Amino acid sequence: MADMDTGMRIGPVSAAPLTVIDRHPPAPDVLAAVRGGLAQQPRQLPAWLLYDRRGSELFAEICRQPEYTLTATELALLRHHAGPLCAGCPAGTLVVEFGAGSVEKVSPLLEALAAPAYLAVDISASALQAVGRRLQAAHPAVPMLGLCADYGTLPDLPLPADWRDRPRLGFFPGSSLGNFDPAEACRFLAGLRPLLGSRGQLLIGIDQPRDPAAIEAAYDDRAGVTAAFELNVLHRLRRELGAEVDPDGFRYRATWEADRSRVAMALVSIGRQRLRLADLEVVFSDGEPLITEYSYKYAPAAFLELAARAGWQGLDRRCDDADGFSVHRLQPLAAAPDCSASAD
Ligand SMILES: C[S@@+](CC[C@H](N)C(=O)[O-])C[C@H]1O[C@@H](n2cnc3c(N)ncnc32)[C@H](O)[C@@H]1O
Repeated sequence: MADMDTGMRIGPVSAAPLTVIDRHPPAPDVLAAVRGGLAQQPRQLPAWLLYDRRGSELFAEICRQPEYTLTATELALLRHHAGPLCAGCPAGTLVVEFGAGSVEKVSPLLEALAAPAYLAVDISASALQAVGRRLQAAHPAVPMLGLCADYGTLPDLPLPADWRDRPRLGFFPGSSLGNFDPAEACRFLAGLRPLLGSRGQLLIGIDQPRDPAAIEAAYDDRAGVTAAFELNVLHRLRRELGAEVDPDGFRYRATWEADRSRVAMALVSIGRQRLRLADLEVVFSDGEPLITEYSYKYAPAAFLELAARAGWQGLDRRCDDADGFSVHRLQPLAAAPDCSASAD
C-alpha cells in the first residue's frame, strides 16, 4: 500500500479495523506549501509536515518524556472530569477529534457518552491506523471512521448519510491550537462552528504561559527526542519531495518568546549551505533558523477572548493550575464570529 502520508493516494481506503477517507493534500499542494514557507522570512515549514510515519512515532515518544508534562496532565483532567465535560451531549453524539494521535485521551469521552460514534481527523495516515486499531479494540461497540486531511482547511465533514444527523462534539486536545498564530487560530475556531453545527460543542485543551525554563525544557527534552522529531522533517523533504538538504547541517533550538507568548521551534543552519527543492534553491546563512512550528500559549482569559471572537462561549473549564493546563468546554454563540481584531 502506498504511504498516504505522502499524499499520493486519493479515495477511500479500508485498512481493518478503521476505514479511512483520504483527503490528504495531494503532492503538488504539499510542494506548494513548502515552497511558500521557504520564501517567507524567517523561513518556515508547515507544522503538519512533521507528522509522517516516523514523526508520529517520535511524537508518541515525546509524550513519554519527563519534561513534556502536558500529556499526563491533560489525560488526568479528561479521566477525572469526562462526565461534566460531556454534560449536555445527547445520546448518539458524534465525537470529531482533530489531530487524533492519542488513544488514551478520547477514551474517557467515549465511555462517558451514550451510544457515541467517533470520527478521527488527522494528517498522518499512519497515526490514524495506529489509533484506530487500538480504539476499535477498546470500544468495539462504537462505530468509527478516519479522515486523513488537513484540519486547517477542511470545508466539510464527509460523513455517511446515517451519521449526518448526529449531534457533534468536537475534541481538539494537546494544545494543538498553539500551532496556529492567533489570527489563524480565530479563523480555525470560527470554521469549526459550521462543521460541528448549531447544537455542537467543543472540548479543547489549552496550555498557558508559565516558567520559561520549564517550557523550553518541555520542547527540548534531554533525551533529544524532540530534536529528532523536528529534524525528521528534513528527512521527509528528501524522501518525499526529492529535496537536496543535509539534515546534519542543522541543529534544533526551542526558544520561549515572551512578547508573542509562544515557543519558536527551529532548525538552525550550521554554517552557510544550500537547500534545493525542484527548481528552487535556498541559501541559509550561518545561524539562520528554519521554523518548524510555533506553540502559542494562552492564559484562560486570553483564550476565552479569542474563542468569543471566533463565535464560541465558555461553558466549563477543568484545569490543573500547577501545570498551567485547561480543558475548556465551549458552545456556539448566537453572534457571528469576527476575527478582524485577532493579530498574528
Ligand atoms: C501535537 S500532536 C497531538 C496528538 C494528540 N491529539 C494528543 O493530544 O496527544 C498533533 C496531532 O495532530 C495531527 N496534525 C497536526 N497538524 C494537523 C493538521 N493540520 N491537520 C490534521 N492533523 C494534524 C498530527 O498528525 C498529530 O497526530
